[in-house]
Amino acid sequence: MSKPRVFLTRLILESGLKPVQDFCEAEIWSGELPPNRDELMHYVHGRNGLLCLLTDRIDADVMDAAGPGLKVISNCAVGVDNVDLPAATARGIPVGNTPGVLTDATADFTFALLMAAARRVVEGERQVRSGGWKTWSLDTLLGADFAGATLGLVGFGRIGRAVARRATGFGMRIIFSDPNPATPPRPGTGTTPEPGAEATQVDFDTLLRESDFVSLHTPLTDKTRGLMNTAAFAKMKPTSVLVNTSRGPVVDQPALYEALKSHRIFAAALDVTVPEPLPIDSPLLTLENCIIVPHIASASWQARQKMSRMAAENLIAGLKGERLPNCVNPEVYGRELR
Ligand code: GLV
Repeated sequence: MSKPRVFLTRLILESGLKPVQDFCEAEIWSGELPPNRDELMHYVHGRNGLLCLLTDRIDADVMDAAGPGLKVISNCAVGVDNVDLPAATARGIPVGNTPGVLTDATADFTFALLMAAARRVVEGERQVRSGGWKTWSLDTLLGADFAGATLGLVGFGRIGRAVARRATGFGMRIIFSDPNPATPPRPGTGTTPEPGAEATQVDFDTLLRESDFVSLHTPLTDKTRGLMNTAAFAKMKPTSVLVNTSRGPVVDQPALYEALKSHRIFAAALDVTVPEPLPIDSPLLTLENCIIVPHIASASWQARQKMSRMAAENLIAGLKGERLPNCVNPEVYGRELR
């Protein structure tokens, strides 16, 4: 029997590559950069499965370019804002993602950014390299304290909770608000029983007003696009630090630039931007109090191996006509699958 034909928009790591190559006839995009639109449309044609990354916009046109044989889309990421889910569901195509396996790596990295921004690590390093380190003094590069500070988590899913557990070890008070809660808050209680962390649910304005650190852990949705805008920055403390490891469009970048430049807030660290990569003439890159890194929060050896494996498992399950182990549009199972 012939093997199912799949297209991988980029090389995945060994743990996922081998099962895919064993089970499928796989075409793998070998470019350093993702396939452009025309290339993507060309290469999906006639495939039964598509394994893609968050850099690939998978919309109805791509699905139609693949043709009626496309049985599964496996996104090698936890976020799926790059995939048009209603279009996939309407066509009976299950979409997979990779939750859980990158939670710790992303929470660790969130803390790395929180600390780097609050304690001016990158600014200090730049100073050393440029010969600006003249002596030790009591007021060199002063930054924010963690013990006793309030951490405001916007989004309290897996990653937000993992950050809360880490913050507990730093002696922080933790508050959260969730613009897209998986389950609505239980009436009469604002404190979560998160093992290893106590976190109190507050409304978004309270979170902005009371937090010394605001960290974003929400998916990109219509509700969260531009959530951190001029009005939000105006409510934050002038000593506060913002970290974004979620998706770039959750932050209104021109508003962030103004807030940082005018010292409306103290500092920011962004793992995600609009666009990605961020052009090097972005005004944000002129600011000393802004750290920007290239979307690497989940980039630990283990997390990326496990993501590759999970993406392969979703792909293969879909090709076999089995339920995906991690499906983001489970409503597809109520209708006729391809
Ligand atoms: C990374 O940003 C992911 O969504 O996995």
